[in-house]
Amino acid sequence: MSAIETVLLAVWIMLPAYLPNSAAVIFGGGTPIDLGRGWRGARLLGDGKTWRGSIGGAASGFVLALVLNEALAAELVPTFLPEFELLAALGLAVGAILGDMGASFLKRRTGRERGAPFPGVDQLDFAVGAFAVTALLAPSWFFEHVVDLGVLVVIVVVTPALHLSANFIGYKIGVKDEPW
Ligand code: CTP
Ligand code: MG
Repeated sequence: MSAIETVLLAVWIMLPAYLPNSAAVIFGGGTPIDLGRGWRGARLLGDGKTWRGSIGGAASGFVLALVLNEALAAELVPTFLPEFELLAALGLAVGAILGDMGASFLKRRTGRERGAPFPGVDQLDFAVGAFAVTALLAPSWFFEHVVDLGVLVVIVVVTPALHLSANFIGYKIGVKDEPW
């Protein structure tokens, strides 16, 4: 595979995992997942993780994977890219939301208030979550398409850059409270 193909493949695979947390900002609000409950002196997750945001965000990532499958079937994108198995689509989208939620859990345990930055963790939590859940739900798809040194290197380098840009745009257009 050429370097350009590796970058395309990495971004393609991650698109259904990139969308959910941005979409959650739009859908978010209402009842928090932790229902306001605390644990060991701090909120379990905090008001930034809501049912609406989580379900709307995960559904957006899943639907995006279905749309990408249609684009692939219509040959609107290079045909070396893999189709998303339904369980892989689900794993990437739900895993991205769960990874971000796991980071909020860690933030609250380490005394960080809602919205406080957690450099490194903020940028990769959803990718780790997406991989973990996809590896569980669609192991053969995961090992065939994701477990590749080139693909993983691109994901680790490109993901924080995309994440920071998306958040900056969200902040500038007024849908996100902080620019990170
Ligand atoms: N959001 C949501 N549900 C999620 C993730 C995000 O409702 N599972 C919404 C919330 O309105 C949240 C906003 O998207 O405030 C921005 O998400 P994020 O930056 O992840 O949350 P924070 O408010 O910064 O909270 P935390 O410190 O827990 O990350
Ligand atoms: Mg935040």
